Amino acid sequence: MSSYVTRKTPGDTSWFTHDRFGMFIHWGLYALPARHEWIKSREKISEEHYDLYFKHFNPDLYDPTEWARQAKAAGMKYVVMTAKHHEGFCMFDTQYTDYKCTNTPAGRDLIREYVDAFRGEGLRIGFYYSLIDWHHPDFTIDPIHPRRDDPDAKEQNQGRDMHRYAEYMRNQVTELLTNYGKIDILWFDFSYSQDRGTGENAWQVGKGKDDWEAEQLIALARRLQPGIIIDNRTEIDQDIWTPEQYQPTEWIRHPETGELVTWEACQTFSGSWGYYRDEMTWKSPEMLIRMLVNTVSLGGNLLMNVGPTARGYLDYRAEAALAVYAEWMKYNSRSIYGCTMAEPEFETPTDCRLTQSQDGSRIYIHLFAYPFAHLKLRGFSGKIEYAQFLHDGSEVLFSDGCINHFSAQNEKTDSEITVLYLPDVKPHCLVPVIEIFLK
Ligand code: GLC
Repeated sequence: MSSYVTRKTPGDTSWFTHDRFGMFIHWGLYALPARHEWIKSREKISEEHYDLYFKHFNPDLYDPTEWARQAKAAGMKYVVMTAKHHEGFCMFDTQYTDYKCTNTPAGRDLIREYVDAFRGEGLRIGFYYSLIDWHHPDFTIDPIHPRRDDPDAKEQNQGRDMHRYAEYMRNQVTELLTNYGKIDILWFDFSYSQDRGTGENAWQVGKGKDDWEAEQLIALARRLQPGIIIDNRTEIDQDIWTPEQYQPTEWIRHPETGELVTWEACQTFSGSWGYYRDEMTWKSPEMLIRMLVNTVSLGGNLLMNVGPTARGYLDYRAEAALAVYAEWMKYNSRSIYGCTMAEPEFETPTDCRLTQSQDGSRIYIHLFAYPFAHLKLRGFSGKIEYAQFLHDGSEVLFSDGCINHFSAQNEKTDSEITVLYLPDVKPHCLVPVIEIFLK
């Protein structure tokens, strides 16, 4: 059994730390401008202009079953989609605002179709719900709000009431957690109570748990869906820590107690979360696989994002990236599911990453750079029963002590090392994996 113990969580994370790999979906009106999901704030777009996106939102090619099929093929076991992003537009049929997909040319509850499709493919279902709302009339103007630099911003805040907004959120979370069957994850985003405006706008302050009335919000969610996994972005510790757009280099620890925590890195294919037509920073296939491996090798999950187009399909670059995962996971998923960071007794060889099955019986060596002929291991001596390449189940020979070659006679025998004998040609696989069965 793995010796790593994580901080206790209120929700049930056992399936989550087994499944390891999920799909994030950022889809909303921002798919139309197609230049970042924060566009309303970045460009300080007026309500009037933003309404054009509402008026023209017509995802006539939306086929969530196709998305779900691709997610499943990529090896993703769960999914989290934006029910509402910061722009405030609702992708579900809510009673509490008219600013929802059913009132656009889309004309139907997109979240319902999403839930049905992904559930049908056997994935667990999550909702992303933005705490931030740049459309709601009670959400006060703050340092990231689109109206922040309006000369009359302060006046516009008169009469806005965050208590009413917090109630609105509770109403919508009630809808989301009542009308769509079992929901596995609720992903709130995000708190920024440390933010302040500058100069003339110094009166503007960010928002955090008190503004969201987060305790009530969480209690409500737990009452409606016991066992649900909730992230920490309300500013109250719940189940998962969510490092975003960077690769942790150690297992994430609780900042105060130092305990290991349950964590999920969320990452993008190209930098932004919403569909961004002109973005050219798409990650390479190698990097995509490495990000998944790196994450699991440190005991974490990966939530990889797609930003569907305004017409409702996954653009060719996103499909190609998902296909990279599909190809690799088809043969190598055993080093991901049910795996975690390897026990410290097993040293990570140069250019490699290790994962270990949570029952402790197998180690997976991921070869980030393919070595010539030999791979030297430390900490494995006398412990290996059998070794093979994971992708084809072909035996990998090994010896304890030293390299078995006549010219290596001067190499001191070192009882601590184990040598694996590798073919000269790297297997046809982006990141080859060696599976070690321990005695
Ligand atoms: C950020 C961004 C957002 C994105 C999220 C995903 O906090 O505000 O656009 O939805 O990260 O983690």
